[in-house]
Amino acid sequence: MSKRFADFLLAGKNQVDQQLANFAADQAMAASGLGGSLDTITQACTYVLTNGGKRVRPLMVYAAAQALGHKGHDTGLDHVACALEMIHTYSLIHDDLPAMDDDDLRRGRPSCHKAFDEATAILTGDALQARAFELLADAPGLTAAQRVALIKSLAKAAGVQGMVGGQAMDIAATNTNVNLQQLQSMHAFKTGAIIRAAVTMGGIAANASVQQLAALDSYGTHIGLAFQVIDDILDVEGNTETLGKTQGKDDKANKPTYVSLMTLDGAKKESQRLLQTALDTLVEFGVSADPLRGLAHYIISRDR
Ligand code: IPE
Ligand code: IPE
Ligand code: MG
Ligand code: MG
Ligand code: MG
Repeated sequence: MSKRFADFLLAGKNQVDQQLANFAADQAMAASGLGGSLDTITQACTYVLTNGGKRVRPLMVYAAAQALGHKGHDTGLDHVACALEMIHTYSLIHDDLPAMDDDDLRRGRPSCHKAFDEATAILTGDALQARAFELLADAPGLTAAQRVALIKSLAKAAGVQGMVGGQAMDIAATNTNVNLQQLQSMHAFKTGAIIRAAVTMGGIAANASVQQLAALDSYGTHIGLAFQVIDDILDVEGNTETLGKTQGKDDKANKPTYVSLMTLDGAKKESQRLLQTALDTLVEFGVSADPLRGLAHYIISRDR
């Protein structure tokens, strides 16, 4: 990893961590006047927003905007980046619930429903989802048309045509045999859609042309799918300590994955093919797209 890219990763992560902590603190402050009845939900929101995570989706927002010549961070872009992370974090909280994957460990700490309780975890996910759209609606420095386009992109990626649809396919596919085409569709929906949206939303915030948006969309589609292929591989090859979540859950829960359908070697080859296709879609961009290129490599070579 180049020093330049390592700096990009660190600066983006710090920026998002700081902003999310601020949003959580503001919310806790606003709720504190209500006599303590909101203490649990605000504590849970703070818990899930300040417990790390790689922040890949916010980094995609920053990287896509930079590809279009946008310099660094600004408050409007931070709102977009944090909205993506809130939707993603909500998806993880619900994914870990007993009714779904029943996972007790997330980001190296007890999952939200373990640290609090199931009702609180459900409500925390709901609250983050609502807050994400509020952030987009009042993102500073963006036109009303940009905000509406951003809200629409995120809503579509989060709903039945995106993450929620993919999670429903995942539940339906558990303990069954699916073919590769069905698995690809499930992965593209449950994980690919939000990553794809992060990339295109960075583009929308930075005034991408129709052509630029199409290139970003193709990059996001391929790298978003690759992200879940690697997640499947790490479930087999990773270790619980580094992952910060329980290794080996997919096999135990009898979930169809890229590894179960293609073998470990086949899944790795497929991730390399998707990486190359994602990189190819960036040919029209110059060095300004290096953060996007770096993120693509990072996603494929990560160990957590
Ligand atoms: C894990 O996402 C769940 C998937 C969508 C595959 P990440 O690997 O981005 O998790 P965090 O945010 O870094 O914890
Ligand atoms: C989760 O997929 C995708 C989401 C929409 C959250 P997984 O169930 O494989 O994610 P992990 O492995 O628990 O992080
Ligand atoms: Mg799951
Ligand atoms: Mg899971
Ligand atoms: Mg997984």
